[in-house]
Amino acid sequence: MLTAEQNDLLTQVTPGTPMGNLMRRYWQPIAAASEMDHVWTRRVRLLGEDLVLFKDRQNRLGLIKEQCPHRRVSFAHGIPTQNGIRCPYHGWEFNAKGKCLEQPNEPDNPAFREKVTTDAYPVQEMGGMLFAYLGPLPAPLLPKFDGFVEPGTIRMMGRSVLPVNWLQVMENSLDPVHTEWLHGHHYEFLQEQQGIKVAISAHHEKIDFKEFEFGITKHRLLTGQSEDSDDWRTGHPIIFPNILAVGNGNGDEAARYYSFQMRVPVDNETTMHLWYNAYVPPKNGEVPAHLLNTVHVYDVPFKDEKGEFIVDNVDGQDMMAWISQGTIANRATENLGSSDKGVAMYRRVLKREMKKVEQGEDPMGVLRDPQRDHRIDLPNEKKKHHNSDGFASFLLRTHAKYSQVAPDIVMLFDPDRVQFDAQGKVQLRTMKPATASMY
Ligand code: FES
Ligand SMILES: [Fe+2]
Repeated sequence: MLTAEQNDLLTQVTPGTPMGNLMRRYWQPIAAASEMDHVWTRRVRLLGEDLVLFKDRQNRLGLIKEQCPHRRVSFAHGIPTQNGIRCPYHGWEFNAKGKCLEQPNEPDNPAFREKVTTDAYPVQEMGGMLFAYLGPLPAPLLPKFDGFVEPGTIRMMGRSVLPVNWLQVMENSLDPVHTEWLHGHHYEFLQEQQGIKVAISAHHEKIDFKEFEFGITKHRLLTGQSEDSDDWRTGHPIIFPNILAVGNGNGDEAARYYSFQMRVPVDNETTMHLWYNAYVPPKNGEVPAHLLNTVHVYDVPFKDEKGEFIVDNVDGQDMMAWISQGTIANRATENLGSSDKGVAMYRRVLKREMKKVEQGEDPMGVLRDPQRDHRIDLPNEKKKHHNSDGFASFLLRTHAKYSQVAPDIVMLFDPDRVQFDAQGKVQLRTMKPATASMY
């Protein structure tokens, strides 16, 4: 249980707040690079700041405050230039560093021009994703986490903009037991109402959490598993502060994939949830070029046309749980039990790291040493419990089913599970799940 003040301290991310300061020490994903292919500007709202991502005529990206410092018109309607962007209203030109380059219709006055700067933030690309850094300069390194830099992968990114604070989404990742119920018994109950009997829930014998350089690993021992299992021994990480990396692959090196859930605080009451999956193609498989040369972007819905939550898949179930806690979960009325020890630990680590930032230190996982600017292999299960009933079966029970390239990916990894429709288009065969999945 937290007081209202403690809840505010942990949830508020707007400029000047302690959590906002902590979040600003990390590069945050804002879009897939492919989303800038056919546009010149894109609105970005991040940590309560309204920004515009733009491309100049040399195809270089910039991220500046949305409102023009002259008389506040939006740069989302700006005109790209060789070295920056012009405001559509009176043509004042700015570069990606926020410097004013030109003020047409004004007498040439370098002092005035220099005074009129705008907020600007660095942007970097990694793995076909764009990341922004809103903190104090110099910016730290953008850590090269394994799945973003693995060469030759098939990459896709699902997106959902959720009407909730980011913290309750992250707390779910420190809560292994929910999978037994939300993705297990609750799903069984839904099936029961359709007259289908399934038993997919797996009981947690014990859970554990450990800190490592870049965050916290989460471990579970399920009934029937040995203490040697990957789920217990290795677990999978919460990359501090707001990314979950899920277990990858089914034990077969030829069918590995990397999977990240990135919970980007748009503001105190909105979270942009990004699922980034990178599939390593089987060694001898022929991969069509169109699958490889871009990040495939798709929307992940959480409500159906009647306005009800979509709970027929794991991620829909999670979104129902996050959103139904309220816009900002009222932690003054919660009652934590012993199975919430991961949640309690995460809150302690957040407070500790906020304090470091206040004291002028770098928080957990911030990298500056150029010697360490190389691939970082995260601890992660290889033989993951949730893959035990097959690649396609699991894929169909997640956000990935909404991806336009899902049938192509199943075709590569689990070809028996695809069929062709009358037009010869690849389709997925639906299946009944055999086990609950485990995020
Ligand atoms: S409002 Fe932007 S140039 Fe005038
Ligand atoms: Fe979940």
